[in-house]
Amino acid sequence: MTEQRRIIAVGGGKGGVGKSIVAVNLAVAIARLGRTVALVDADLGSANQHTMLGIDRPGPSLYSVIRGEVRSLKDAMMRTIVPNLVLVPGAGAIPGSANLAEREKNRLLTEVRNLPVDVVILDVGAGISYEVLDLYILADQRIVVVLPQLTSFQNAYSFLKGAVHRTILACADTPSRRRIYSELDPSRETERITSVLRQLEERDPLYSSRVKARLNHFGAKLIGNQVVSAKDRGTLGAVGKMFRDFLLVDAEILGALRFNRKLGESINRRRPLAVLEPNDDCVRVIHRVATVLLNEDIEQLRRGREAMDGSDASSADEDDTLLSQIRALLTV
Ligand SMILES: Nc1ncnc2c1ncn2[C@@H]1O[C@H](COP(=O)(O)OP(=O)(O)O)[C@@H](O)[C@H]1O
Ligand SMILES: [Mg+2]
Repeated sequence: MTEQRRIIAVGGGKGGVGKSIVAVNLAVAIARLGRTVALVDADLGSANQHTMLGIDRPGPSLYSVIRGEVRSLKDAMMRTIVPNLVLVPGAGAIPGSANLAEREKNRLLTEVRNLPVDVVILDVGAGISYEVLDLYILADQRIVVVLPQLTSFQNAYSFLKGAVHRTILACADTPSRRRIYSELDPSRETERITSVLRQLEERDPLYSSRVKARLNHFGAKLIGNQVVSAKDRGTLGAVGKMFRDFLLVDAEILGALRFNRKLGESINRRRPLAVLEPNDDCVRVIHRVATVLLNEDIEQLRRGREAMDGSDASSADEDDTLLSQIRALLTV
């Protein structure tokens, strides 16, 4: 069972875009498809999945584990009203709780990997702190929730860019590679990814090819939320393409949810809409999303991310095409 375990992270950078709504309804949808699911409320600082699932007094939380009050994340799992779905609650708003020490963060990452379920859904919360980004890049599959609004696109872009940077750092498997990364231009986080890769290529081609393999299989998936018009959909598609061009990671559109008052009401009723109204059209979209995600072969995805051999040569070619496209765009 654990071999098939997959981790799906739901992020988006901006608060209030619908990450938690998507995460909880996706968790219900996957549980209904017969998988055991742990919804982990990793919104460091403003956790509210327990409220959305009608749980008044969450027991031990993610923080109890970090603080060593319970032995493992497994001990913080709570049953929910949905068969097959357990919740690992986050703590309410504890000021400063979003700042984890490196050791605490690593422990948390290991614990998430070891949860005894088929599917882990991580609601990573808002912002682009390293805690959020590292949880996000840990996942096998990565969702980005965006509204068709400039500020949401802007934050989603910074979020993904931050995740790409943490991936580049995570690929640095030796002290010398970590040094290379830290010695990149001090403005590296505002630099274009293409230019970062070019600098890596010059200093350590093997490191650079590891990074390219990872980025080629990064696989961010966009969910448009509160999408109203056909024009919104068009914008979403164009933005996905722009993300790909600028960040060298895929950003396919996985689904679009319309503005739906019932989603807001479901929060006050403290039941996910997928529980209240399984036939609602937004719930159906989320079910389709669940099926697509489960159909993706994660073993293949993991192998692709580790690839460093011949297969990488072809991806390097693709990158070159992408690079020249971006160069063309930038010189217009
Ligand atoms: N498709 C939608 N239609 C109507 N309201 C929505 C929709 N998606 C989200 N909302 C509203 O937006 C608010 C924020 O959603 P939430 O999932 O908590 O965002 P986040 O986790 O990204 O901060 C909720 O209160 C909900 O009522
Ligand atoms: Mg949230």
